[in-house]
Amino acid sequence: MELNNLLISGNLIEEIQSILDEKDISKNVRYKDENEVTEDDLEWADAYVGFKPKASLDFSKVKWVHSTGAGVDRFLDERNWDPGVLLTRTIASFGQKIAEYSLSYILRHLQKHNQFIQYQAKKEWNPVTPGILSEQRVVVFGTGEIGQVVANKLSSLGVSVTGVSASGSGKPYFDQVIAQNKDLTSYLSNANWVISTLPLTSDTNGMLDEKIFTKLNSAGFINVGRGKTVNTNHLLNALDDEKIHTAVLDVFEEEPLPQSSPFWEHDNVIITPHISAETTPAEAVACFLETLEKVEASENFKNQVDIDRGY
Ligand code: GLV
Repeated sequence: MELNNLLISGNLIEEIQSILDEKDISKNVRYKDENEVTEDDLEWADAYVGFKPKASLDFSKVKWVHSTGAGVDRFLDERNWDPGVLLTRTIASFGQKIAEYSLSYILRHLQKHNQFIQYQAKKEWNPVTPGILSEQRVVVFGTGEIGQVVANKLSSLGVSVTGVSASGSGKPYFDQVIAQNKDLTSYLSNANWVISTLPLTSDTNGMLDEKIFTKLNSAGFINVGRGKTVNTNHLLNALDDEKIHTAVLDVFEEEPLPQSSPFWEHDNVIITPHISAETTPAEAVACFLETLEKVEASENFKNQVDIDRGY
């Protein structure tokens, strides 16, 4: 595939431009704020690189679209994708970052940080024994690129990790992987933590609902996938019913999270503003250039999105 005109937009354009200016990529490159991209830009471009394109853009005019993020729901949602247009996504250190994010909250809970901070404030000497990772059972929804790194890091610290995926195919570092349409009761009722790394697709939209939450027994819930995979009301009910003791949420149905959301003031909810796995400019450029080379050489590459699956 010949790609001469590259339109680069997205949340990292300035950083990407300063890295690409140092390299000679022998292409015509146009940099444009993502909200200012026009149909004329797309007429000109062979390839579009972005993060959160305007809903109105019609990508059937370009040959290749590349997401500087891991997720591509912002590209596919409510858009009829022309099957002739190649879509790729960024693969980078997301799994490592999400593993560290998740571990920080799991350890905070096991090591009883909140309790000891309160005892210290009252000058109380109050020995409470911390929990240990090797006794933890974690269920990870999503066994792709990111879920596998999370399973690798957690299992290396002694955690038992069960995966849940569409197919149920076995993957490295998971004790077992169960298909999402199977009975998950025994895994969920014994889980100490549930971590969702799910992408947003028509299949996963609202998938984490009362059918999952009511089977938990005071587990922690971490969502680092997409907000719309969770039924918000069912999650709030599960917190009220103590099926979930803490919800650590990095992604939301609507972002930024509206001021009116009950999550903000919920004692058992921890909110972070979609920061668990940001793409660094260097990673964005490295993945983009590697993919560009492979697309031009018609080589196989693993970051091609299967449009029907949506990831
Ligand atoms: C962030 O959520 C991404 O898609 O990389």
